[in-house]
Amino acid sequence: MATDRLTDRWPSRWPVQLVPKTRWARQQPTYREASPAVIEGAVKRASTRASGNWFVFAASRSVTSSTPLGADVGGIELVAWRREDGSLVVGPGACPHLGAPLALAKVDCGTLVCRWHGLRVGSGTGRTGWDELPSYDDGVLCWVRLDQLGGETPTDVPPVPERPAGPALDAVAVLTGACEPVDIVANRLDPWHGAWFHPYSFSDLEVVSAPTEIHVAEADDKFLVKVTFRLGGPFGVPVLAEFTCPGPRTVVMRIVEGEGLGSVVETHATPLSPAADGTPRTAVIEATVAASERPGFQLARSAGRLLRPAMKWTAGRLWRDDLAYAERRYQLRSRGL
Ligand code: FES
Ligand SMILES: [Fe+2]
Repeated sequence: MATDRLTDRWPSRWPVQLVPKTRWARQQPTYREASPAVIEGAVKRASTRASGNWFVFAASRSVTSSTPLGADVGGIELVAWRREDGSLVVGPGACPHLGAPLALAKVDCGTLVCRWHGLRVGSGTGRTGWDELPSYDDGVLCWVRLDQLGGETPTDVPPVPERPAGPALDAVAVLTGACEPVDIVANRLDPWHGAWFHPYSFSDLEVVSAPTEIHVAEADDKFLVKVTFRLGGPFGVPVLAEFTCPGPRTVVMRIVEGEGLGSVVETHATPLSPAADGTPRTAVIEATVAASERPGFQLARSAGRLLRPAMKWTAGRLWRDDLAYAERRYQLRSRGL
């Protein structure tokens, strides 16, 4: 076959490789290694990590100084905007007077003016009965600290995962699933489904190591995965990636070898208010922070505005399938299966 002949001659050090053609049903099955006990053990250990009561609620880019952004975290209505100096403000989303939605208020001189009767909140005087909540903008994502919802010991700053040190390109995708945060985490902690469930994005997937013991130190609690990211047609980029959980609702995939070394995909699962029928809902807020040493990457970075929709589209496509997995997991659990 022509592709096979080309594969023989393709320089193995080039970042883009030719993906050998394999029929989907002819891949090596992974169900033997994908032990439910190993996945469940990793999910349980993740749930014990501290969050300091911090929740990711939006992409930094989506919070502006011109229009307030409404958000919902675990049924708590929030509003967020930026002061004139660009700093983030987050607080209750209902006006303390008669409850108007502050997401529909006007931003004026860095404060919010309620549309119903003109109460001004966020000026820092604290005389309105509206109190700002602890918040944090890490440059890619916005976090809010909700102590009652989290129920843990609060911390001053959120556990922001380590990101690429040099110049990077970031994109944030947001989707909603009918499940709990734990179902999103469990999906990400099953790396074995990659090439089977997402053959359009991954091939030649091999889980090199997985934490098989029940008690594992946090530093060793990782999955190492060899995988080729498909670029379309016969081309792909082989990398070694690790999956870790730095918090109870966060899974980080980091490229530890190959093109884009140090790049991360952070998946944050944030609880929302339940649907009208009581079904839980969870937001998947996924940040891709891509880095590369290559000179062309600088160009790609400046073309970020063009590339960002493509990065979001790729994440969105994967998550449509992954949400079906997570929602199914929730349904089975709620039926006691
Ligand atoms: S409801 Fe906001 S000022 Fe009256
Ligand atoms: Fe997936």
